[in-house]
Amino acid sequence: MVFWAVFLLSRGQDDLINFVHFSNCCKEETLQQDHNIIQKIMDSNFKGILWLALVLFTLPRLTCHMNCPPKCTCKDQVNCYDKTIKEVPRELPPNTTKLQLFNTKVNELNEHSFKFLPLLSRFLLVKSQLHIIHPMAFHSVSKIRSIILVSSYLSNLPAKVFSTLTELVQLSLDENQLETISPELFKGLVALEDLTLSSNKLKRLTSNVFDDLGNLRLLNLGRNSIYELPSTIFHSLTKLNKLYLYHNKLDELQPGIFDRLVALEELRMQQSQISSLPPRVFWQLRNLKVLYLSNNQLQTVPKESFYHMPMLRSLTLHKNPLISLPDQLMGHMPDLREFNLYGTNLTTVPGNLFANMSGLLSLNFGLNAWLKDLPSDLFCCLPNLQNLTLQSNNLHHLHTQLFSRLTSLQILRLHQNKLQNLPWDIFQGLGKLSIIDLKENQLKTLSGDIFLSNVALREVHLSNNTWNCNCSIRGFAKWIRENEHVVPDREDTQCLSPMQKVSRALNSLHDKEFDFCDATTVSYFTTSLQTQTTTLLDIEEFYPTTKTLVTDGRSLSFYDKLMVENGPDFVHHNFHSGWVYVWSLPTDTSLTGLLMFSHIFLVTTGVFLILATMYGMYRLDRIMDELMA
Ligand SMILES: *[C@@H]1O[C@H](CO)[C@@H](O)[C@H](O)[C@H]1NC(C)=O
Ligand SMILES: *[C@@H]1O[C@H](CO)[C@@H](O)[C@H](O)[C@H]1NC(C)=O
Ligand SMILES: *[C@@H]1O[C@H](CO)[C@@H](O)[C@H](O)[C@H]1NC(C)=O
Ligand SMILES: *[C@@H]1O[C@H](CO)[C@@H](O)[C@H](O)[C@H]1NC(C)=O
Repeated sequence: MVFWAVFLLSRGQDDLINFVHFSNCCKEETLQQDHNIIQKIMDSNFKGILWLALVLFTLPRLTCHMNCPPKCTCKDQVNCYDKTIKEVPRELPPNTTKLQLFNTKVNELNEHSFKFLPLLSRFLLVKSQLHIIHPMAFHSVSKIRSIILVSSYLSNLPAKVFSTLTELVQLSLDENQLETISPELFKGLVALEDLTLSSNKLKRLTSNVFDDLGNLRLLNLGRNSIYELPSTIFHSLTKLNKLYLYHNKLDELQPGIFDRLVALEELRMQQSQISSLPPRVFWQLRNLKVLYLSNNQLQTVPKESFYHMPMLRSLTLHKNPLISLPDQLMGHMPDLREFNLYGTNLTTVPGNLFANMSGLLSLNFGLNAWLKDLPSDLFCCLPNLQNLTLQSNNLHHLHTQLFSRLTSLQILRLHQNKLQNLPWDIFQGLGKLSIIDLKENQLKTLSGDIFLSNVALREVHLSNNTWNCNCSIRGFAKWIRENEHVVPDREDTQCLSPMQKVSRALNSLHDKEFDFCDATTVSYFTTSLQTQTTTLLDIEEFYPTTKTLVTDGRSLSFYDKLMVENGPDFVHHNFHSGWVYVWSLPTDTSLTGLLMFSHIFLVTTGVFLILATMYGMYRLDRIMDELMA
């Protein structure tokens, strides 16, 4: 800088301006102008100082002075963004290795597009109007390693356009309008590792189209309209790591289609129309880690389909209209962490379905509108399972032992089913369970001890059930009162019956309201009871606390004494020599009238009888007197 200052002081005003101009690099001056300035400097008196100055100050800037085009930045790579750009910029630093054009109106790559870029190794054109590529366009950049032509209008590619690119590693043609691909298009691309063709309009592919791509690691054919794949199409791809076929129109797979993909780790085939799988179609994929089959049309899956995938980490089958699954389906897959099986038409599943998924952390088995029964040992072998979703199924009952082995379970979602009751010990031993969602079921009551061993409980959702607030809810209501902090929806956890408690929140029921429940019960059955059934049913209708009076017809249990809240006893039963007598004390006026009538009738009859007796006695007395006389 010292030299510079000395130098500038020794020159005139004009040169000073010129220098300022000169050092303002990457603007629009031409190289010629700069040469003139340099020439002037060279002619000056202070050559020695000048050389130093040049080295110190000018040179670093000369590099960026190699004609960076307007709307571009030229650093390690040349990036251009602008709708006014209509073709690949011509005047680029000749040593440009990476050229990226975003959001331009480039509509053609012609034979000169890359002529002056012998070192180009990456060309990216995203969001352009690209329609046409000249067959020779890339022939001058034979060292190119990456070509990305994405979000454009390519509908056709000349058969040999890439044929000289033996060093090409990445080729992306996603989001274009490609309908067909010439069998020659990828010939000779022996170095290619990534080929992506997603979001085009491909319908079918010829069987030899990928034959030269022995180095391919990623092949993305997703989001096309492919409806058919020849059985040998992937046979050269022995190094393929990821194969994406999702979102197509495939309705079946050819047997053996994946047999040579021994290195495959990810196979994504979701959102197609696959309605059947050939037996053993995945059996050679020993390294598979991800298999997506969701959103297809599978109604069943051949037995042993998922055997021999010991590395599997993620498997999806959800949103298939599955009707049944075979007994032997899942092989050992200890690394599977997550499994989704929702949105199917299954009514039940084999008890061993998840038995080989010992490492599972999360299982989503909800939204199966027909799923009614779960085998009692279904979750036998999932010691690590943390999240279990069974929401929105059609479950009516759950087996007592269903969850008993899920010792790591933290979140259990059971909402939106048809559960009417739960065994009192169904959650026993689940010491890590922290969230249980039971809302929107048809629960009438639960045992007060049901969560006794769930010491980690943080949230229990109970709203929108058909809670019946009779004697049997006493214990559970007490549990809610004592654990209000874990019932976030307690205000909406309300009685649906009996009449006098409708809409009361369960946590507002006081224990003394249940005092009338302190009654003994008798279990008894005799055929003669049948004759009394009508009476019993009447009672049930009148006062639902006697609901257990009539059960399945084999055993009856009922209260010794029933009372209306704060009212008089109104029903008694008597048990005598195999007969049960049920006495009810009617409470409404017509019945009271009837009773009154009977009472008067009885009293009248009694008086009449007494009078009749007295008259009889009198007559007898008279007859005795006559006889004695
Ligand atoms: C181009 O060459 C100049 C020197 O001539 C160098 O400083 C610059 O980094 C090179 N650019 C690239 C992208 O290699
Ligand atoms: C678990 O996988 C093994 C082989 O991987 C298989 O032999 C066994 O039958 C599978 N078990 C079930 C219940 O499918
Ligand atoms: C599956 O169930 C849906 C309704 O839930 C029904 O529309 C569809 O036809 C069923 N599919 C099969 C294959 O049963
Ligand atoms: C379980 O679910 C919770 C919340 O729904 C989520 O944050 C967590 O990541 C899930 N755990 C696993 C193992 O999927």
